[in-house]
Amino acid sequence: MNRQFSCLFTFFVSFVSFVVYLLVLMKGKFITLEGPEGSGKSTQAQMMIRRLSGVGIEAMYTREPGGTALGEEIRNILQHNQAGEAPCERAELLLFEASRNQLVEKVIRPALEKGTWVICDRFMDSTTAYQGYGRGLPVDDVKAIHQFTINKVAPDLTLLLDLSVETGFNRIAQRFLELGESADRFEQEERAFHERVRRGYLTLAEEEPERFRIVDASQDPETVSAAIWNIISTLLEKE
Ligand SMILES: Nc1ncnc2c1ncn2[C@@H]1O[C@H](COP(=O)(O)OP(=O)(O)O)[C@@H](O)[C@H]1O
Ligand SMILES: [Mg+2]
Repeated sequence: MNRQFSCLFTFFVSFVSFVVYLLVLMKGKFITLEGPEGSGKSTQAQMMIRRLSGVGIEAMYTREPGGTALGEEIRNILQHNQAGEAPCERAELLLFEASRNQLVEKVIRPALEKGTWVICDRFMDSTTAYQGYGRGLPVDDVKAIHQFTINKVAPDLTLLLDLSVETGFNRIAQRFLELGESADRFEQEERAFHERVRRGYLTLAEEEPERFRIVDASQDPETVSAAIWNIISTLLEKE
């Protein structure tokens, strides 16, 4: 009887371990794209999704802030000052975090649990780089708030599309010229802010070398995409 019970127990434990193993194996990967405006995040996200689908991996695109109905409302408040009162620095940070938590719980976590890969155009590191390093909010506090917000849904891989501030400005200026607008709003002060953001991003990458990969975003889109695919192939081989 005891022996029978022990056999049954061993079988049960093995079965549960197997199911847990399958669930872990089936979980989708969570990849975030970071870097300044004009570094090619949105372009690369689409190219990556096409390549993943080519090898039979289902991947979805989402972006921050926004990505959910409530998140889009928050995006409106942040970008168009819909309330008629600009948020204070810490209020702004918390609005970003509210939008992020909604996206994590409504979109990212369920997708990953279904086995779908999630490619997110900006995530928590944008907030650390812009509100922390750029605006000067205490970086350690900002990072602690992220952990509360993401509630264990952390990126498996973060691609930092690194670009000199000069090149980024030139790309955006080009876009402005194409739209017939003036590009002279990029004055010195703005530049110092963007330099702090870039250095902030690079510091974050240095602090977490396991999660971050720095990609040279100054190259043409095909070359950047190939570099990213190399990184993802390595990730797949490690499985
Ligand atoms: N590697 C690249 N080299 C030159 N221009 C690029 C490159 N990647 C994207 N672009 C162009 O730069 C602009 C910004 O690209 P986008 O993907 O929207 O960047 P982001 O989402 O990081 O702001 C677009 O006009 C896009 O066509
Ligand atoms: Mg974009």
